[in-house]
Amino acid sequence: MAAVAPTRFAVLVSGEGTNLQALLDARDRGALGPATIACVASNRPGARALSRARAAGVPAAEVDHRAHPSREAFEDALLAAIGAGSPGGPDGVVLAGFMRVLTPRFLAAFPGAVVNTHPSLLPAFPGVAAVEQALGYGTRLAGCTVHFVDAGVDAGPIIAQRAVPVFDDDDAASLHARIQAEEHVLLPAIVRALAEGRISCEGRRVVVARGAGHADQFL
Ligand code: GAR
Repeated sequence: MAAVAPTRFAVLVSGEGTNLQALLDARDRGALGPATIACVASNRPGARALSRARAAGVPAAEVDHRAHPSREAFEDALLAAIGAGSPGGPDGVVLAGFMRVLTPRFLAAFPGAVVNTHPSLLPAFPGVAAVEQALGYGTRLAGCTVHFVDAGVDAGPIIAQRAVPVFDDDDAASLHARIQAEEHVLLPAIVRALAEGRISCEGRRVVVARGAGHADQFL
């Protein structure tokens, strides 16, 4: 697949929004390249991520999935809330702690331009409670994965991963904090690379070309 280069991102969230904050902070220090955060939407009313968006001057919408009779109705409301298909609307989507599975119908509105961050080294431990799954399994390495989103659960082509050690005295909170510190570096770097058209995909193999003049050698 040739590189797509979305630049106006909708960020979908469900909770705390620390990954959203990392994107906003990167934007503010000029580290997102041509990428802009056009809007934020949460399926959870009152999510802390929404106040982070508003504090940064980004339009933020609540679209409560429980208020809709079907997945399709929820996604239609979500597409409308983020202005999908309207002039100047988003052309890419970042799932930053968004805890709903999107259908192919939603994904078709942003071909090749939906990415997710997940707190495990996929394909290990997809789905919910990934950090608890890794701890319970007893892996000595954990980490995060940024990947393209397809119709599966945390199953799309992997763009980049970062690993962290698991310590003997870790609990889910301490391990998740270590993983999130890596996510906060990786996700903005990937959003920038996507906007700069540096990410291409051949089957499941993704290539991220180096950017000129900025440090992303960890990718
Ligand atoms: C992040 O660690 C993200 O990887 C995870 O939720 C957390 C959200 O934190 N996402 C998933 O588990 C998706 N399967 P945040 O709201 O502080 O960004």
